[in-house]
Amino acid sequence: MNVLIIGSGGREHALAWKIKQSPLLGKLHCLPGSAAIAALAVCPGIAQEDQDGILGYCLSEGIDLVVIGPEAPLAGGLADLLTGKGIKVFGPSRKGAMLESSKQFAKEFMDRNGIPTAGFAVLYSAAAARERIAANRKYPVVIKADGLAAGKGVRICADEAGALAAVEDFMERRVFGAAGSKVVLEEFLTGREASVMALTDGESALLLPAARDHKRLLDGDAGPNTGGMGAVCPVEIGEADMETISTEVIQRFLDGIKKERLNFRGVIYAGLMFTPDGPKVLEFNVRFGDPETQAVLPVIKSDLLPALAACAEGKLAGRDLELTGETCVAVVAAAAGYPEKPEKGRPITGLYDQAPGVQVFHAGTAKRDEAYLTAGGRVLAVAACGTGTAAARERAYGALSGIKFEGMQYRKDIGL
Ligand code: AMP
Ligand code: GLY
Repeated sequence: MNVLIIGSGGREHALAWKIKQSPLLGKLHCLPGSAAIAALAVCPGIAQEDQDGILGYCLSEGIDLVVIGPEAPLAGGLADLLTGKGIKVFGPSRKGAMLESSKQFAKEFMDRNGIPTAGFAVLYSAAAARERIAANRKYPVVIKADGLAAGKGVRICADEAGALAAVEDFMERRVFGAAGSKVVLEEFLTGREASVMALTDGESALLLPAARDHKRLLDGDAGPNTGGMGAVCPVEIGEADMETISTEVIQRFLDGIKKERLNFRGVIYAGLMFTPDGPKVLEFNVRFGDPETQAVLPVIKSDLLPALAACAEGKLAGRDLELTGETCVAVVAAAAGYPEKPEKGRPITGLYDQAPGVQVFHAGTAKRDEAYLTAGGRVLAVAACGTGTAAARERAYGALSGIKFEGMQYRKDIGL
């Protein structure tokens, strides 16, 4: 099977690493890929926005399966274009991707289908939002830009002034462009967070082990929100909560996509808050989580490729994935200045000769004269497996201590 991965980050590096191990694999390709992914896959440098270029490449290279990593090409309808030409795709249609690309669509979908989530109101103008805020008595309150905002379109507002500032930024100053043309005002939930991903062919679902990412920059969940500073998998979820997740979140999601014909073949990511009233969905993503994937894939023992292909073919029913039984901790090393203004171009040392059970997944690196340099905010993740979290943590931090670049920042409490 010739496989093409779309994307270039740490998640795609981890997908390439896992798929590369499959005995079913013919040739592995990745667009646009990265210097690190090029060690595993052919990366001919076609941009992920270039839909016609990707289609032409699939046809000329005899691609049997396309695995789409990031949300933007999904929201842009890449899966629709390729499946329309008879190419098998792991990744939902543009309409299915609206579960991530529109908070309004996602909230109303959950509401229609009885999926537990925070109470909400959709507001279509700044005036309507201000009116709603003036009547609001309960703080904090959560305000979300409707559209894609690279994970930054969510504000937890401690008081009325904060809520009004969010409305001004999103809806009037348009700091996230058209993504702020509508906002969702949401009830603030409390509890621990975790994420559950499930592979789906649109008919049935296969749950992956639950993971937890650490979104804040600094130890103890302090500092600004980031794309994610590390992840651990699996995390313990109680039996009652797991039952709610399978029956009220995943099963109702499946019922909903069938009823509404969303044409969803890929992975659904449910970001969950474990509230005193049980788990509730904070957000859906329509793709593998980043950096969760870097911690989830190393604990899957089975070949992943047949499961991904089964999703694309509508043949997932009855499939299972065997786990290694270990825990994986993935610690992100970020550049100085991240998340505001990451510094780039710093040489990275100590990348090679990792111990067994340790993988370095590159997110933002480039190569110059055979040496790696930093080239993004999140530079890489060190993912290490061990028996239990403590052992995995020790291995991950041991490996990370050998990797160096100027200004490197990382959290010391991933997995705790
Ligand atoms: P989202 O991108 O919607 O997952 O939001 C990003 C983060 O904001 C989540 O991981 C939560 O920590 C927080 N958040 C989002 N919605 C809520 C909510 N309704 N109550 C409390 N925290 C929230
Ligand atoms: N780690 C959260 C996300 O992938 O959106």
